[in-house]
Amino acid sequence: MNVQASHTADAVTAEESLAIQEAQSAVDSASATDVAMQNTLLTPRFYTTDFEELDAIDVSPVRDDWDSLIAQMVSDPNKGHFRKTENWDHVDWDNMEPKLRREFIDFLISSCTAEFSGCVLYKEMKRRGSNKDITQLFQLMARDEARHAGFINDALREAGVAVNLGFLTQKKKYTYFRPKFIYYATYLSEKIGYARYITIFRHLEEHPEYRFHPIFKWFQEWCNDEFSHGEAFALLMKTDPKLTSGLNVLWIKFFLTAVYATMYIRDHQRPEFHKALGVDPDWYAHEVYTKTSAITKQIFPITLDIENPRWQRGLEKLNRANITIAKASHAKGPMAFVKGAVARLQAASAFVSLMTIRSKSHARPDSTRMEPCY
Ligand SMILES: [Fe+2]
Ligand SMILES: [Fe+2]
Repeated sequence: MNVQASHTADAVTAEESLAIQEAQSAVDSASATDVAMQNTLLTPRFYTTDFEELDAIDVSPVRDDWDSLIAQMVSDPNKGHFRKTENWDHVDWDNMEPKLRREFIDFLISSCTAEFSGCVLYKEMKRRGSNKDITQLFQLMARDEARHAGFINDALREAGVAVNLGFLTQKKKYTYFRPKFIYYATYLSEKIGYARYITIFRHLEEHPEYRFHPIFKWFQEWCNDEFSHGEAFALLMKTDPKLTSGLNVLWIKFFLTAVYATMYIRDHQRPEFHKALGVDPDWYAHEVYTKTSAITKQIFPITLDIENPRWQRGLEKLNRANITIAKASHAKGPMAFVKGAVARLQAASAFVSLMTIRSKSHARPDSTRMEPCY
């Protein structure tokens, strides 16, 4: 008999997990969903792609590594993990410093949206495909992301907010990306997600006094899921060497730069959150780039030269331009318009300048497979 799970942590498919979250959506708050609905360059987006092309991938060139990765995901080591247990300390939302509360809720909403965006894309691929290898992988990844989103929603619900996932699925705008761009972007977001979560987890292991919310205790298993997802995309790219050579290397550089820069800007928008964690966002960014670069050597032929002084200067310039753009967008009148337009040009020039820093090349390993080691 098929017993239905009652908590998203135990759900074995994304569909089951989403049905549970739908049933809980009675308490969803409109303002949280509004935040999740925002479509800017920086907020998590929803993606769609050419599912037929994805379905046509033949994984035989990487069969051994593929089978062992899938077996590990099927064994489902984190089933039941993403739920509140006795380790979940009480959170005093009412007495949380208002700025911190606002930034932290914003962090949770955007993380939940990002998890859910992955879930929607993966679930759609599973639904549309007929290639057993591909549909199985995407079903497993959708399962994980639905649990992650469900767990963040658990945390948000305590603060009286939750993101209405059903509504987002129907109403949020979908951005079309060709499959190869989905590989670059999704691979990177899984790997940088791993690096971000493990860096915070290790920092709080050393400094538990900064752990102002219990959700951080769950980050290790969490980022191991993201690590596996990234491994899967590395294998998908490995099936076609053209994807990581020739002119595509420029695209890889573009995506590395865009993903790293977006992280820098978004983290600098949450100063109180990082202060509460005892983390300097500049140190954190550098730490995450270092780890992500080491990991992405498994498949990408280049890494960004993050030690080049122009790199940090460029990020700071981009960040300043972005702050001006945000301010101008809230102000009215012709001056605000001009300021915003100038800042947009400055942001573009900062980005181009980051792109022109010479990247570093390296020889790639025969097998892409890696284990999480940080
Ligand atoms: Fe996730
Ligand atoms: Fe993931």
